[in-house]
Amino acid sequence: VSELPPFPTGWYALCFADELGAGQLLSGRWFGRELVVWRSGSGRVAVMDAHCPHLGAHLGHGGRVEGDAVRCPFHGFRFDGDGACVGAYGGRPPKVRAGTWPVAERDGVVLTWFDAAGRPPGWEVPVADSGGFGPLHHHTWPSLRTHPQETSENSVDLGHFAEVHGYTEVRELAPVQADGPVLRTRYSMTRANPFVPFLAPIRTEFDVAVHGLGFSRVDARIEGQALRTRHLVLATPVDDGVVELRIGVAVEVRSPGQIARPLGWIPRRWITALVGSLALRAYRDDVSQDFRIWQHKRWVDPPGLAEGDGPVGPYRRWARQFYPGGVGGAHPSMEPTPT
Ligand code: FES
Ligand SMILES: [Fe+2]
Repeated sequence: VSELPPFPTGWYALCFADELGAGQLLSGRWFGRELVVWRSGSGRVAVMDAHCPHLGAHLGHGGRVEGDAVRCPFHGFRFDGDGACVGAYGGRPPKVRAGTWPVAERDGVVLTWFDAAGRPPGWEVPVADSGGFGPLHHHTWPSLRTHPQETSENSVDLGHFAEVHGYTEVRELAPVQADGPVLRTRYSMTRANPFVPFLAPIRTEFDVAVHGLGFSRVDARIEGQALRTRHLVLATPVDDGVVELRIGVAVEVRSPGQIARPLGWIPRRWITALVGSLALRAYRDDVSQDFRIWQHKRWVDPPGLAEGDGPVGPYRRWARQFYPGGVGGAHPSMEPTPT
């Protein structure tokens, strides 16, 4: 892991939107820095350097949201979402500013932009149509020894699906497509029924869109059109070689009886909640299967690619854009994956 620059450029999840209600403040360590994320009374999210620009108190330890500002626990100065000091001892506020970070909310996730060279966002994660999907079920692993380049590479590494996850009949449905900061792939596979394990295995088709290395959105169609699921994979670097990993799943149940006959009896709303939590549990289990590989592997560059790998080579060439200076990503001499 250590050969890769630790913090590639892009949008990264700091929390799920439902973890940050109006008036709430969270703090954390991301990109080797201390940050706070808070939502004002009127609903606006701000991401800030955690240390107050007055005399350096940590806003995450006793700071609180007051209306549209955050109040420092040390001398009570207040800062708005743009970082301006808007109140100090009741007199004229000093011209200090808290460092602020770009913010976006997508698919129920609060994102910030990181660029080691300090450039403003060069692209956005597009808003996706969420029509039909139930609420997002999600899970967070706060500390894994890996890198966003490795976790995202997983979705194009078709060769590991059988060995690590036990999927069968893995097929690439369309050639990988690199479109600026977005990488798209489509594949299908067969897996054990995650909802009712003793029933027949199910066939699933995946549409993968990787938006930079921190935000992957995967739309799946199960058994034709019986069930749609949307999966989010969100890797946020904490420190060099340490990642906070989030996953989310939302489901749309179209034809319960087709997934598992016993489910056909239950009302749709209950089914959506039940299938959503079962889908999250299955997804959690699937993603956990990768951990012992991720946490102990090393970055091999150039890799010894083989037929059957999936588009690992194109993925690595695409990923070079997220490292200012072009380091990391693929070795320049690397050839495309043979097909
Ligand atoms: S250190 Fe924050 S108000 Fe003084
Ligand atoms: Fe995997």
